Amino acid sequence: MRLGRPGRWGDADGVKTVLEPFRIKAVEPFRITTEAERVHLLEAAHHNLFRLRAEDVMIDLLTDSGTGAMSAQQWAAIMTGDESYAGSRSFYELEHVVHELTGYRHVFPVHQGRAAERILFGCMVMPGQAVPNNAHFDTTRANVEYLGAAAVDFVAPQAADLRQPAPWKGDLDTAKLAAWLQLQPKGSVPVGLLTITNNRVGGQPVSMQNLREVSALYRRHGIPFFLDAARFAENAWWIHRLDPEWREAPLPKVARAMFDLADGCMISAKKDGLVNIGGLLCLNDDALAAKVRNLLILTEGFPTYGGLAGRDLAALAQGLREVLDPDYLHYREASAHYLGEHLDRLGVPVVRPFGLHAVYVDARAMLPQIPPHELPGQALACELYLQGGIRTVEIGTLMFGRTDPATRQPVVADHDLVRLCLPRRVYTQSHIDWVVEAFREVHGRRDALRGLRIVEEAPFLRAFTARLQPLPVREPAGLRG
Ligand code: F0G
Repeated sequence: MRLGRPGRWGDADGVKTVLEPFRIKAVEPFRITTEAERVHLLEAAHHNLFRLRAEDVMIDLLTDSGTGAMSAQQWAAIMTGDESYAGSRSFYELEHVVHELTGYRHVFPVHQGRAAERILFGCMVMPGQAVPNNAHFDTTRANVEYLGAAAVDFVAPQAADLRQPAPWKGDLDTAKLAAWLQLQPKGSVPVGLLTITNNRVGGQPVSMQNLREVSALYRRHGIPFFLDAARFAENAWWIHRLDPEWREAPLPKVARAMFDLADGCMISAKKDGLVNIGGLLCLNDDALAAKVRNLLILTEGFPTYGGLAGRDLAALAQGLREVLDPDYLHYREASAHYLGEHLDRLGVPVVRPFGLHAVYVDARAMLPQIPPHELPGQALACELYLQGGIRTVEIGTLMFGRTDPATRQPVVADHDLVRLCLPRRVYTQSHIDWVVEAFREVHGRRDALRGLRIVEEAPFLRAFTARLQPLPVREPAGLRG
Protein backbone atom coordinates (compact mmCIF):
# COMPACT_ATOMS: atom_id res chain seq x y z
CA MET A 1 0.00 0.00 0.00
CA ARG A 2 1.49 3.28 -1.13
CA LEU A 3 -0.84 5.61 0.76
CA GLY A 4 0.05 7.39 3.91
CA ARG A 5 3.69 6.44 3.89
CA PRO A 6 4.85 8.60 6.76
CA GLY A 7 7.55 11.14 6.20
CA ARG A 8 7.64 10.79 2.45
CA TRP A 9 8.68 14.42 2.31
CA GLY A 10 10.90 16.47 4.49
CA ASP A 11 12.34 14.03 6.98
CA ALA A 12 15.74 14.73 8.39
CA ASP A 13 17.14 13.59 5.03
CA GLY A 14 15.70 16.67 3.38
CA VAL A 15 13.03 17.78 0.98
CA LYS A 16 12.65 15.72 -2.16
CA THR A 17 11.63 16.64 -5.67
CA VAL A 18 7.93 17.31 -6.10
CA LEU A 19 6.67 14.94 -8.77
CA GLU A 20 3.64 16.69 -10.23
CA PRO A 21 1.31 13.82 -11.23
CA PHE A 22 0.29 15.42 -14.53
CA ARG A 23 1.86 16.67 -17.72
CA ILE A 24 0.96 19.94 -19.32
CA LYS A 25 -1.26 20.02 -22.38
CA ALA A 26 -2.15 23.71 -22.64
CA VAL A 27 0.07 26.53 -21.48
CA GLU A 28 -0.77 30.05 -20.42
CA PRO A 29 2.22 32.34 -20.85
CA PHE A 30 2.74 35.15 -18.36
CA ARG A 31 4.64 38.33 -19.07
CA ILE A 32 8.06 38.60 -17.46
CA THR A 33 8.37 42.05 -15.89
CA THR A 34 11.48 43.83 -14.66
CA GLU A 35 11.96 45.11 -11.14
CA ALA A 36 11.97 48.70 -12.45
CA GLU A 37 8.58 48.11 -14.05
CA ARG A 38 7.22 46.58 -10.87
CA VAL A 39 8.28 49.59 -8.81
CA HIS A 40 6.15 51.71 -11.09
CA LEU A 41 3.24 49.23 -11.17
CA LEU A 42 3.15 48.91 -7.39
CA GLU A 43 3.08 52.68 -6.98
CA ALA A 44 0.25 52.94 -9.49
CA ALA A 45 -1.61 50.27 -7.45
CA HIS A 46 -1.12 52.37 -4.29
CA HIS A 47 0.83 49.52 -2.69
CA ASN A 48 -2.30 47.38 -2.62
CA LEU A 49 -1.80 44.11 -4.49
CA PHE A 50 -5.56 43.70 -5.05
CA ARG A 51 -5.31 46.80 -7.25
CA LEU A 52 -2.76 45.24 -9.60
CA ARG A 53 -3.79 43.91 -12.97
CA ALA A 54 -3.28 40.15 -13.01
CA GLU A 55 -1.26 40.47 -16.24
CA ASP A 56 1.35 42.40 -14.24
CA VAL A 57 1.81 39.45 -11.86
CA MET A 58 4.13 36.55 -12.67
CA ILE A 59 3.36 34.07 -9.90
CA ASP A 60 -0.09 34.62 -8.43
CA LEU A 61 -0.45 33.12 -4.95
CA LEU A 62 -3.28 35.45 -3.93
CA THR A 63 -5.84 32.67 -3.55
CA ASP A 64 -6.51 29.00 -4.31
CA SER A 65 -10.13 29.87 -5.12
CA GLY A 66 -11.19 29.37 -8.72
CA THR A 67 -7.57 29.63 -9.85
CA GLY A 68 -6.86 25.94 -10.43
CA ALA A 69 -6.25 24.18 -13.74
CA MET A 70 -8.89 21.78 -15.03
CA SER A 71 -7.95 18.34 -16.35
CA ALA A 72 -8.36 17.16 -19.93
CA GLN A 73 -11.38 15.15 -18.75
CA GLN A 74 -12.95 18.28 -17.27
CA TRP A 75 -12.44 20.18 -20.51
CA ALA A 76 -14.00 17.28 -22.35
CA ALA A 77 -16.96 17.50 -19.96
CA ILE A 78 -17.24 21.21 -20.79
CA MET A 79 -17.90 20.25 -24.41
CA THR A 80 -20.54 17.67 -23.55
CA GLY A 81 -22.35 19.70 -20.86
CA ASP A 82 -26.13 19.85 -21.33
CA GLU A 83 -27.37 23.45 -21.41
CA SER A 84 -31.08 22.64 -20.96
CA TYR A 85 -32.84 25.09 -18.67
CA ALA A 86 -34.70 22.37 -16.75
CA GLY A 87 -33.68 18.80 -16.08
CA SER A 88 -30.18 19.06 -17.56
CA ARG A 89 -28.36 15.74 -17.89
CA SER A 90 -25.28 17.43 -16.45
CA PHE A 91 -27.23 18.21 -13.28
CA TYR A 92 -28.22 14.57 -12.79
CA GLU A 93 -24.63 13.54 -13.39
CA LEU A 94 -23.47 16.01 -10.74
CA GLU A 95 -26.23 15.00 -8.36
CA HIS A 96 -25.18 11.37 -8.67
CA VAL A 97 -21.52 12.16 -7.94
CA VAL A 98 -22.45 14.35 -4.94
CA HIS A 99 -24.83 11.69 -3.57
CA GLU A 100 -22.02 9.14 -3.73
CA LEU A 101 -19.56 11.54 -2.11
CA THR A 102 -21.68 13.03 0.66
CA GLY A 103 -24.77 10.85 1.04
CA TYR A 104 -26.98 13.94 1.41
CA ARG A 105 -30.49 13.64 -0.02
CA HIS A 106 -30.86 17.10 -1.55
CA VAL A 107 -28.18 18.60 -3.80
CA PHE A 108 -28.43 22.22 -4.96
CA PRO A 109 -25.88 23.76 -7.29
CA VAL A 110 -25.09 27.43 -6.65
CA HIS A 111 -22.73 29.85 -8.35
CA GLN A 112 -20.17 29.83 -5.51
CA GLY A 113 -19.75 29.21 -1.79
CA ARG A 114 -21.16 32.48 -0.54
CA ALA A 115 -24.41 31.88 -2.46
CA ALA A 116 -24.85 28.64 -0.49
CA GLU A 117 -24.23 30.64 2.69
CA ARG A 118 -26.72 33.32 1.77
CA ILE A 119 -29.44 30.83 0.85
CA LEU A 120 -28.94 28.49 3.80
CA PHE A 121 -28.75 31.29 6.36
CA GLY A 122 -31.60 33.11 4.63
CA CYS A 123 -33.77 30.05 5.36
CA MET A 124 -32.59 29.48 8.93
CA VAL A 125 -31.11 32.53 10.67
CA MET A 126 -33.11 35.31 12.35
CA PRO A 127 -31.94 38.63 13.85
CA GLY A 128 -30.61 38.30 17.40
CA GLN A 129 -29.55 34.66 16.97
CA ALA A 130 -25.98 33.31 17.06
CA VAL A 131 -24.08 30.86 14.83
CA PRO A 132 -21.04 29.00 16.24
CA ASN A 133 -18.11 27.74 14.13
CA ASN A 134 -14.44 26.81 14.62
CA ALA A 135 -13.71 30.03 12.70
CA HIS A 136 -15.97 31.74 10.18
CA PHE A 137 -14.43 32.62 6.84
CA ASP A 138 -15.03 36.33 6.00
CA THR A 139 -18.00 35.76 3.69
CA THR A 140 -19.60 33.27 6.07
CA ARG A 141 -19.32 35.76 8.91
CA ALA A 142 -20.62 38.58 6.72
CA ASN A 143 -23.64 36.52 5.63
CA VAL A 144 -24.51 35.70 9.26
CA GLU A 145 -24.05 39.29 10.40
CA TYR A 146 -26.00 40.65 7.44
CA LEU A 147 -29.05 38.86 8.87
CA GLY A 148 -28.57 40.56 12.24
CA ALA A 149 -27.13 37.47 13.94
CA ALA A 150 -23.76 36.96 15.66
CA ALA A 151 -21.01 34.75 14.19
CA VAL A 152 -19.12 33.22 17.14
CA ASP A 153 -15.70 31.54 16.73
CA PHE A 154 -14.35 28.75 18.93
CA VAL A 155 -10.73 28.37 17.81
CA ALA A 156 -8.89 25.47 19.46
CA PRO A 157 -6.28 26.53 22.04
CA GLN A 158 -3.48 24.68 20.23
CA ALA A 159 -3.82 27.16 17.33
CA ALA A 160 -2.57 30.09 19.42
CA ASP A 161 1.12 29.22 18.99
CA LEU A 162 1.79 29.78 15.30
CA ARG A 163 5.11 27.95 15.15
CA GLN A 164 4.11 24.88 17.20
CA PRO A 165 3.55 21.93 14.84
CA ALA A 166 0.46 20.54 16.65
CA PRO A 167 -1.53 18.36 14.22
CA TRP A 168 -5.18 19.46 14.57
CA LYS A 169 -5.06 23.22 14.91
CA GLY A 170 -8.25 23.55 12.88
CA ASP A 171 -10.33 21.91 15.62
CA LEU A 172 -13.21 23.64 17.33
CA ASP A 173 -12.78 24.20 21.08
CA THR A 174 -15.55 21.86 22.23
CA ALA A 175 -15.17 22.64 25.95
CA LYS A 176 -15.80 26.33 25.24
CA LEU A 177 -18.65 25.55 22.84
CA ALA A 178 -20.33 23.25 25.39
CA ALA A 179 -20.15 25.95 28.08
CA TRP A 180 -21.41 28.60 25.66
CA LEU A 181 -24.33 26.44 24.45
CA GLN A 182 -25.48 25.99 28.06
CA LEU A 183 -25.91 29.76 28.32
CA GLN A 184 -27.86 30.30 25.09
CA PRO A 185 -31.62 30.74 25.32
CA LYS A 186 -33.58 27.94 23.68
CA GLY A 187 -34.04 28.45 19.93
CA SER A 188 -31.35 31.12 19.70
CA VAL A 189 -28.82 28.95 17.82
CA PRO A 190 -30.45 28.07 14.48
CA VAL A 191 -27.48 26.24 12.97
CA GLY A 192 -24.00 25.10 14.05
CA LEU A 193 -21.04 25.14 11.64
CA LEU A 194 -17.60 23.58 11.31
CA THR A 195 -15.15 24.71 8.61
CA ILE A 196 -12.95 21.99 7.08
CA THR A 197 -10.11 22.82 6.64
CA ASN A 198 -9.95 25.91 8.80
CA ASN A 199 -8.91 28.64 6.38
CA ARG A 200 -8.90 31.39 9.04
CA VAL A 201 -6.47 29.31 11.08
CA GLY A 202 -3.68 28.64 8.57
CA GLY A 203 -5.59 26.06 6.51
CA GLN A 204 -5.31 23.67 9.44
CA PRO A 205 -7.33 20.43 9.44
CA VAL A 206 -10.07 19.30 11.82
CA SER A 207 -9.65 15.81 13.32
CA MET A 208 -12.28 13.08 12.98
CA GLN A 209 -12.41 13.02 16.76
CA ASN A 210 -13.31 16.72 16.81
CA LEU A 211 -15.85 16.27 14.02
CA ARG A 212 -17.52 13.57 16.14
CA GLU A 213 -17.51 15.68 19.30
CA VAL A 214 -18.88 18.75 17.56
CA SER A 215 -21.58 16.65 15.89
CA ALA A 216 -22.58 15.10 19.23
CA LEU A 217 -22.72 18.50 20.92
CA TYR A 218 -24.91 20.09 18.27
CA ARG A 219 -27.14 16.98 18.25
CA ARG A 220 -27.52 17.05 22.03
CA HIS A 221 -28.80 20.61 21.75
CA GLY A 222 -31.02 19.83 18.75
CA ILE A 223 -29.05 22.20 16.51
CA PRO A 224 -28.72 21.34 12.78
CA PHE A 225 -25.04 20.83 11.92
CA PHE A 226 -23.59 22.07 8.62
CA LEU A 227 -20.05 21.73 7.31
CA ASP A 228 -18.35 24.55 5.45
CA ALA A 229 -16.59 21.98 3.31
CA ALA A 230 -14.74 24.06 0.68
CA ARG A 231 -11.56 22.02 1.31
CA PHE A 232 -13.13 18.70 2.30
CA ALA A 233 -10.66 16.62 0.25
CA GLU A 234 -7.67 18.26 1.90
CA ASN A 235 -9.20 17.67 5.33
CA ALA A 236 -9.86 14.02 4.45
CA TRP A 237 -6.24 13.71 3.31
CA TRP A 238 -4.91 14.91 6.67
CA ILE A 239 -7.17 12.52 8.55
CA HIS A 240 -5.92 9.69 6.34
CA ARG A 241 -2.28 10.77 6.81
CA LEU A 242 -2.29 11.49 10.51
CA ASP A 243 -5.00 9.39 12.17
CA PRO A 244 -4.09 5.68 12.54
CA GLU A 245 -7.79 4.78 12.54
CA TRP A 246 -8.09 6.01 8.93
CA ARG A 247 -4.65 5.17 7.54
CA GLU A 248 -5.85 2.21 5.50
CA ALA A 249 -9.24 3.67 4.58
CA PRO A 250 -9.81 4.83 0.98
CA LEU A 251 -10.20 8.60 0.80
CA PRO A 252 -13.86 8.56 -0.35
CA LYS A 253 -14.64 6.58 2.80
CA VAL A 254 -12.89 9.18 4.99
CA ALA A 255 -14.77 11.99 3.25
CA ARG A 256 -18.08 10.15 3.60
CA ALA A 257 -17.46 9.62 7.32
CA MET A 258 -17.01 13.40 7.75
CA PHE A 259 -20.17 14.21 5.81
CA ASP A 260 -22.13 11.51 7.69
CA LEU A 261 -21.59 13.38 10.96
CA ALA A 262 -23.40 16.50 9.70
CA ASP A 263 -26.89 17.31 8.44
CA GLY A 264 -25.62 19.05 5.35
CA CYS A 265 -22.81 21.11 3.85
CA MET A 266 -21.96 24.24 1.93
CA ILE A 267 -19.16 23.84 -0.60
CA SER A 268 -17.30 26.48 -2.52
CA ALA A 269 -16.43 24.24 -5.47
CA LYS A 270 -13.77 26.74 -6.53
CA LYS A 271 -11.43 24.92 -4.18
CA ASP A 272 -11.76 21.11 -3.96
CA GLY A 273 -14.36 21.00 -6.75
CA LEU A 274 -11.39 21.73 -9.04
CA VAL A 275 -13.42 24.23 -11.05
CA ASN A 276 -13.13 27.96 -11.68
CA ILE A 277 -16.68 28.74 -10.60
CA GLY A 278 -19.38 26.82 -8.76
CA GLY A 279 -20.70 25.75 -5.40
CA LEU A 280 -23.03 23.30 -3.70
CA LEU A 281 -25.57 23.30 -0.92
CA CYS A 282 -26.47 19.80 0.24
CA LEU A 283 -28.80 18.68 3.02
CA ASN A 284 -31.15 15.98 4.27
CA ASP A 285 -34.12 17.81 5.80
CA ASP A 286 -37.06 17.82 3.35
CA ALA A 287 -38.81 20.87 4.81
CA LEU A 288 -35.60 22.91 4.76
CA ALA A 289 -34.93 21.69 1.20
CA ALA A 290 -38.31 23.06 0.11
CA LYS A 291 -37.44 26.51 1.51
CA VAL A 292 -33.96 26.41 -0.03
CA ARG A 293 -35.42 25.45 -3.42
CA ASN A 294 -37.75 28.44 -3.39
CA LEU A 295 -35.04 30.90 -2.44
CA LEU A 296 -32.71 29.34 -4.99
CA ILE A 297 -35.25 29.86 -7.78
CA LEU A 298 -35.72 33.45 -6.67
CA THR A 299 -32.04 34.41 -6.72
CA GLU A 300 -29.79 31.78 -8.34
CA GLY A 301 -31.86 30.01 -10.97
CA PHE A 302 -33.82 26.83 -11.57
CA PRO A 303 -32.72 24.08 -9.12
CA THR A 304 -31.15 21.94 -11.86
CA TYR A 305 -28.60 24.64 -12.74
CA GLY A 306 -28.44 27.01 -9.76
CA GLY A 307 -26.70 29.93 -11.44
CA LEU A 308 -24.25 27.78 -13.41
CA ALA A 309 -24.02 26.76 -17.06
CA GLY A 310 -24.61 23.08 -17.81
CA ARG A 311 -20.94 22.78 -18.77
CA ASP A 312 -19.95 24.11 -15.33
CA LEU A 313 -22.04 21.38 -13.69
CA ALA A 314 -20.37 18.75 -15.88
CA ALA A 315 -16.86 20.02 -15.10
CA LEU A 316 -17.67 20.06 -11.40
CA ALA A 317 -18.95 16.47 -11.48
CA GLN A 318 -15.65 15.44 -13.06
CA GLY A 319 -13.61 17.57 -10.61
CA LEU A 320 -15.27 15.85 -7.67
CA ARG A 321 -14.38 12.48 -9.21
CA GLU A 322 -10.71 13.54 -9.43
CA VAL A 323 -10.06 15.40 -6.20
CA LEU A 324 -9.79 12.40 -3.89
CA ASP A 325 -7.07 10.80 -6.01
CA PRO A 326 -4.26 10.03 -3.54
CA ASP A 327 -1.55 10.92 -6.08
CA TYR A 328 -3.09 14.36 -6.51
CA LEU A 329 -3.38 14.97 -2.75
CA HIS A 330 0.13 13.63 -2.24
CA TYR A 331 1.35 16.22 -4.69
CA ARG A 332 -0.60 18.93 -2.85
CA GLU A 333 1.11 18.00 0.37
CA ALA A 334 4.52 17.77 -1.32
CA SER A 335 4.16 21.23 -2.88
CA ALA A 336 3.21 22.94 0.37
CA HIS A 337 5.85 21.03 2.26
CA TYR A 338 8.53 21.89 -0.29
CA LEU A 339 7.74 25.59 -0.09
CA GLY A 340 7.35 25.66 3.69
CA GLU A 341 10.53 23.72 4.44
CA HIS A 342 12.62 25.82 2.07
CA LEU A 343 11.36 29.03 3.65
CA ASP A 344 12.08 27.60 7.08
CA ARG A 345 15.65 26.82 6.05
CA LEU A 346 16.14 30.45 5.05
CA GLY A 347 15.10 31.43 8.57
CA VAL A 348 11.70 32.74 7.46
CA PRO A 349 9.20 32.23 10.31
CA VAL A 350 6.49 29.97 8.85
CA VAL A 351 3.23 28.90 10.46
CA ARG A 352 3.27 25.18 11.28
CA PRO A 353 2.05 22.73 10.28
CA PHE A 354 1.79 23.86 6.66
CA GLY A 355 -1.71 23.77 5.20
CA LEU A 356 -2.31 22.05 1.90
CA HIS A 357 -3.84 25.05 0.22
CA ALA A 358 -1.31 27.57 1.48
CA VAL A 359 1.82 28.31 3.47
CA TYR A 360 1.54 31.23 5.89
CA VAL A 361 4.49 33.42 6.92
CA ASP A 362 4.58 35.28 10.22
CA ALA A 363 5.55 38.73 8.95
CA ARG A 364 5.39 40.30 12.42
CA ALA A 365 8.11 37.91 13.58
CA MET A 366 10.15 38.34 10.40
CA LEU A 367 10.07 42.15 10.46
CA PRO A 368 10.18 43.10 14.16
CA GLN A 369 11.29 46.64 13.30
CA ILE A 370 7.86 47.30 11.75
CA PRO A 371 5.19 47.67 14.44
CA PRO A 372 1.81 46.03 13.65
CA HIS A 373 0.08 49.34 12.93
CA GLU A 374 2.66 49.96 10.19
CA LEU A 375 1.52 46.73 8.49
CA PRO A 376 4.49 44.32 8.42
CA GLY A 377 2.46 41.76 6.43
CA GLN A 378 1.69 44.25 3.70
CA ALA A 379 5.32 45.42 3.69
CA LEU A 380 6.47 41.84 3.08
CA ALA A 381 3.80 41.20 0.44
CA CYS A 382 4.82 44.37 -1.46
CA GLU A 383 8.51 43.46 -1.26
CA LEU A 384 7.82 39.97 -2.68
CA TYR A 385 6.05 41.58 -5.59
CA LEU A 386 8.95 43.97 -6.22
CA GLN A 387 11.49 41.16 -5.93
CA GLY A 388 9.84 38.45 -7.99
CA GLY A 389 6.52 39.64 -9.41
CA ILE A 390 4.84 37.38 -6.85
CA ARG A 391 1.39 38.26 -5.55
CA THR A 392 0.49 37.05 -2.06
CA VAL A 393 -2.10 38.31 0.40
CA GLU A 394 -1.73 40.00 3.76
CA ILE A 395 -3.85 38.38 6.45
CA GLY A 396 -3.28 40.74 9.31
CA THR A 397 -3.81 44.30 10.41
CA LEU A 398 -4.66 45.62 6.95
CA MET A 399 -7.31 42.92 6.51
CA PHE A 400 -8.67 42.57 10.03
CA GLY A 401 -7.54 45.72 11.84
CA ARG A 402 -9.41 49.00 11.73
CA THR A 403 -9.15 52.63 12.60
CA ASP A 404 -11.15 53.41 15.76
CA PRO A 405 -13.71 55.99 14.61
CA ALA A 406 -13.67 57.78 17.99
CA THR A 407 -9.94 58.02 18.68
CA ARG A 408 -8.65 57.67 15.06
CA GLN A 409 -6.13 55.23 16.57
CA PRO A 410 -5.30 51.97 14.75
CA VAL A 411 -6.68 48.72 16.18
CA VAL A 412 -4.32 45.91 15.19
CA ALA A 413 -5.03 42.25 14.35
CA ASP A 414 -3.92 39.27 16.48
CA HIS A 415 -1.32 38.30 13.89
CA ASP A 416 0.31 39.75 10.81
CA LEU A 417 0.60 36.92 8.33
CA VAL A 418 1.25 36.65 4.62
CA ARG A 419 -0.59 33.81 2.90
CA LEU A 420 1.06 32.07 -0.05
CA CYS A 421 -1.77 30.15 -1.65
CA LEU A 422 -1.08 27.28 -4.00
CA PRO A 423 -3.53 27.19 -6.91
CA ARG A 424 -4.35 23.57 -7.80
CA ARG A 425 -2.27 21.97 -10.60
CA VAL A 426 -1.04 25.37 -11.86
CA TYR A 427 2.56 25.90 -10.77
CA THR A 428 5.48 23.50 -10.94
CA GLN A 429 8.42 23.07 -8.59
CA SER A 430 10.41 25.59 -10.69
CA HIS A 431 7.82 28.26 -9.98
CA ILE A 432 8.04 27.45 -6.29
CA ASP A 433 11.85 27.68 -6.51
CA TRP A 434 11.43 31.16 -7.94
CA VAL A 435 9.33 32.09 -4.90
CA VAL A 436 11.95 30.65 -2.55
CA GLU A 437 14.69 32.63 -4.34
CA ALA A 438 12.68 35.82 -3.98
CA PHE A 439 12.31 35.12 -0.28
CA ARG A 440 16.07 34.57 0.02
CA GLU A 441 16.69 38.07 -1.34
CA VAL A 442 13.96 39.72 0.71
CA HIS A 443 14.97 37.90 3.88
CA GLY A 444 18.57 39.02 3.34
CA ARG A 445 17.55 42.67 3.37
CA ARG A 446 14.69 42.34 5.85
CA ASP A 447 16.20 44.90 8.26
CA ALA A 448 15.87 47.58 5.59
CA LEU A 449 12.16 46.99 4.99
CA ARG A 450 9.82 49.72 6.14
CA GLY A 451 6.17 49.87 6.99
CA LEU A 452 3.23 51.53 5.26
CA ARG A 453 0.50 53.89 6.21
CA ILE A 454 -3.07 53.84 4.99
CA VAL A 455 -3.98 57.02 3.17
CA GLU A 456 -7.51 56.01 2.17
CA GLU A 457 -9.75 53.20 3.46
CA ALA A 458 -13.36 52.03 3.09
CA PRO A 459 -15.44 51.54 6.24
CA PHE A 460 -15.75 47.74 5.57
CA LEU A 461 -13.35 45.18 4.08
CA ARG A 462 -10.74 47.90 3.65
CA ALA A 463 -7.98 45.56 2.45
CA PHE A 464 -9.51 45.21 -1.01
CA THR A 465 -9.48 48.88 -1.93
CA ALA A 466 -7.23 50.78 0.53
CA ARG A 467 -4.56 53.11 -0.81
CA LEU A 468 -1.23 52.90 1.01
CA GLN A 469 2.05 54.75 1.11
CA PRO A 470 5.46 53.46 2.24
CA LEU A 471 6.74 55.21 5.34
CA PRO A 472 10.06 57.06 5.13
CA VAL A 473 13.14 55.22 6.35
CA ARG A 474 13.41 55.64 10.10
CA GLU A 475 16.58 57.37 11.28
CA PRO A 476 18.63 55.44 13.81
CA ALA A 477 17.86 56.75 17.33
CA GLY A 478 21.38 58.23 17.77
CA LEU A 479 21.05 60.52 14.75
CA ARG A 480 17.87 62.21 15.87
CA GLY A 481 18.41 65.71 17.25
N1 F0G B 1 -15.73 29.12 3.05
C1 F0G B 1 -14.39 29.05 3.07
C2 F0G B 1 -13.71 28.23 4.12
C3 F0G B 1 -13.63 29.76 2.12
O1 F0G B 1 -12.30 29.69 2.17
C4 F0G B 1 -14.31 30.52 1.15
C5 F0G B 1 -13.56 31.28 0.14
C6 F0G B 1 -15.71 30.55 1.17
C7 F0G B 1 -16.39 29.83 2.13
C8 F0G B 1 -16.51 31.35 0.18
O2 F0G B 1 -16.53 30.73 -1.05
O3 F0G B 1 -15.43 32.40 -2.59
O4 F0G B 1 -16.80 30.48 -3.47
O5 F0G B 1 -17.91 32.37 -2.35
N2 F0G B 1 -12.31 31.51 0.19
C9 F0G B 1 -11.46 32.17 -0.78
C10 F0G B 1 -10.08 32.36 -0.23
C11 F0G B 1 -12.06 33.41 -1.36
O6 F0G B 1 -9.27 33.09 -0.89
O7 F0G B 1 -9.72 31.80 0.80
P1 F0G B 1 -16.67 31.54 -2.43
